[in-house]
Amino acid sequence: MISRSIKQQLAGGSEIRKMFEEGKRLKEIYGNDNVFDFSIGNPDLEPPKEVSDALAELANNPTPGMHGYMSNNGYESTRAAIAKKKSDESGLDIGSGAICMTVGAAAAMNDVLHSLLDPDDEVIVLAPFFMEYTGYIKNHNGKVVIVPTDDQFVPVIDRISDAITDRTKAIIINSPNNPSGVVYSAELLTALNDMLLTKDHVIHVISDEPYIDLAYDGNEVPCALKYIKNLIVCFSWSKSLSLPGERIGYALVSPNNEDYEDLTAAIAISNRTLGSVNAPAIWQKVIEKSLYAKVDVANYEHRRNLLYSNIIDAGFDAVKPGGALYIFMNTPKGLDDDEFAKICAGKNLLLVKGSSFSCPGYCRLAFCVSESTIINSRKAFFAIAEELGIDHRASL
Ligand SMILES: Cc1ncc(COP(=O)(O)O)c(C=O)c1O
Repeated sequence: MISRSIKQQLAGGSEIRKMFEEGKRLKEIYGNDNVFDFSIGNPDLEPPKEVSDALAELANNPTPGMHGYMSNNGYESTRAAIAKKKSDESGLDIGSGAICMTVGAAAAMNDVLHSLLDPDDEVIVLAPFFMEYTGYIKNHNGKVVIVPTDDQFVPVIDRISDAITDRTKAIIINSPNNPSGVVYSAELLTALNDMLLTKDHVIHVISDEPYIDLAYDGNEVPCALKYIKNLIVCFSWSKSLSLPGERIGYALVSPNNEDYEDLTAAIAISNRTLGSVNAPAIWQKVIEKSLYAKVDVANYEHRRNLLYSNIIDAGFDAVKPGGALYIFMNTPKGLDDDEFAKICAGKNLLLVKGSSFSCPGYCRLAFCVSESTIINSRKAFFAIAEELGIDHRASL
């Protein structure tokens, strides 16, 4: 007999996965060019050349013991290289001991939550949020406390403050955000930190940063390490190097964090006992050699612009995302996200309901799909607007 909580999770299923399957089904019927599947955020750019060069070099020149067990927090040389990069970015003195290499950001978050939570401790999440957070928090017997952002998806400090209780252990922030694409300003991060420091116990900020390298319009994402004291960063190269299947990332505890010593030790042991043991050896080495490489962000920006224009020109509304890989569009007035998603599916346009991110009234579209899919989808957006009696803002 499986556990009640897993049974619940299975019953809920993943909306994104369901859409992905639906996309495959529709493509078989209508052909690839006539189905506009914006449901899944799988980065579609190939990893930069530095990555394949490093991989080839390591495969061709193996060093003895390269594939062996290591410390639970990973290779010292890899962590030292990352610590230097993060010190340069933040102005803090970050040592290699701050970092634990992990099996992606998902594992980093599980390691961190496992390290922090006693049963029924509360973790604040800011809606809309990446739905997997619920599972991660429940994995470690924590309670999810949802605090809505404002209508531009910016966190509201007073609302967060009001949600804090003596059981609040942590708050998860995610900038650039999945699903909204919103980038948090330095002022916002400062205000969050100031508010948290007025509370009578330590509340850790878990900054989930897999999209930090994907910012558009020439902007840089403010570095949370600079502004927040009790910070733990969870990062992965799933998006910035297009390596989601390889599973490589890290957890980093700010040197200013009041629980630095305990937390760095706890995260390393959690990495072991939760079953990763250590992050993949070869990918740690690849990362060390290609730490400053990035995918072609301009390419994503171009596709964001195309998809955003389709939505706006057809007559719909959306906040223009400053980063990440998604547009979180408003569902038209009078329709909930379920009804709207069904109408879109009727025109072979697949998106994910905002309810999946605890934010009904919106739908998420991922723009890491081919440029031709985005261009060809324009007519579908216009047809949906016509069906709903919405006036276009531009011509087809
Ligand atoms: C906001 C957010 N956090 C974490 C993850 C997990 O990323 P990883 O592949 O590094 O585990 C994702 C993946 O899509 C994400 O969107």
